[in-house]
Amino acid sequence: MDWITPDYPNEHPAQNSLWDKKYLLFLTGVTAVFDGFKALDIDYFGIFHNELRVIIGPNGAGKSTMCDVITGKTRPTTGTVHYNGEDITKKPEAEIVRSGIGRKFQTPTVYDSLTVYQNMELSLPGPKGVWSALTARETKVERDRIMTLLERVRLLDAADTEARYLSHGQRQWLAISSLILSQPRLLLVDEPAAGLTDSETELTGELLLELKKDHTLIVIEHDMDFVRQLDSRVTVLCEGKSMAEGPLEEVKVNPDVIEAYLGR
Ligand SMILES: Nc1ncnc2c1ncn2[C@@H]1O[C@H](COP(=O)(O)OP(=O)(O)O)[C@@H](O)[C@H]1O
Ligand SMILES: [Mg+2]
Repeated sequence: MDWITPDYPNEHPAQNSLWDKKYLLFLTGVTAVFDGFKALDIDYFGIFHNELRVIIGPNGAGKSTMCDVITGKTRPTTGTVHYNGEDITKKPEAEIVRSGIGRKFQTPTVYDSLTVYQNMELSLPGPKGVWSALTARETKVERDRIMTLLERVRLLDAADTEARYLSHGQRQWLAISSLILSQPRLLLVDEPAAGLTDSETELTGELLLELKKDHTLIVIEHDMDFVRQLDSRVTVLCEGKSMAEGPLEEVKVNPDVIEAYLGR
């Protein structure tokens, strides 16, 4: 296995304390095998504190599986996942969420029959469960936070609208805002621009860039224009492997990357 990285040329990840200081999250030797098929095969992958990292790659590259492994939804077959100075490889999914890793799934989790505001209430930190969330009175501070977030994603006027009436873009923003409300330290956002119009995509990009100010973010994306807007370090996944890493301008002229994208 090749541990050489530009940042720590001669250090082995076994020296975890060093790596923990440098990275909020790092994966070493992680594989995820389904019925003999290796969906993920990562030698090394690290996210700096307060970084926005974009993961791109063709369909089936293993992007969602990587999120599943980080959040404990899928147990890796081999390897370790370190987050915030701790080995979380064997932690239950619910505990990982509590430790500050939030996720927006490819299909956003939004409750159709609840209003936009009620959906937000459900994400307030505190006792879990729909009943306790809807019956407990939120504090003024919490109410203000919800309103500020809804305004930021242009959903303030829709606060009392049932989520079923939202457009696809509005659902994405509601899902992202709910996630922010739960105050995760690391945010995983899976394909936020999928199915959005150009102007919706642009607003989504602005929102993610704003989040970058006080979160560490992993954004999975397919759309190249959107990735350009995010102007961040990119990791290219292909057939489960990390194929290239660097600025978009650099990775997109990498012959392996061109082949991976055009060869399909
Ligand atoms: N739970 C699972 N069981 C079997 N195969 C899976 C499972 N999850 C993902 N895969 C397979 O792993 C590969 C990577 O999938 P995925 O991570 O969803 O790719 P991406 O998100 O990059 O499009 C695909 O071939 C997919 O069919
Ligand atoms: Mg996916």
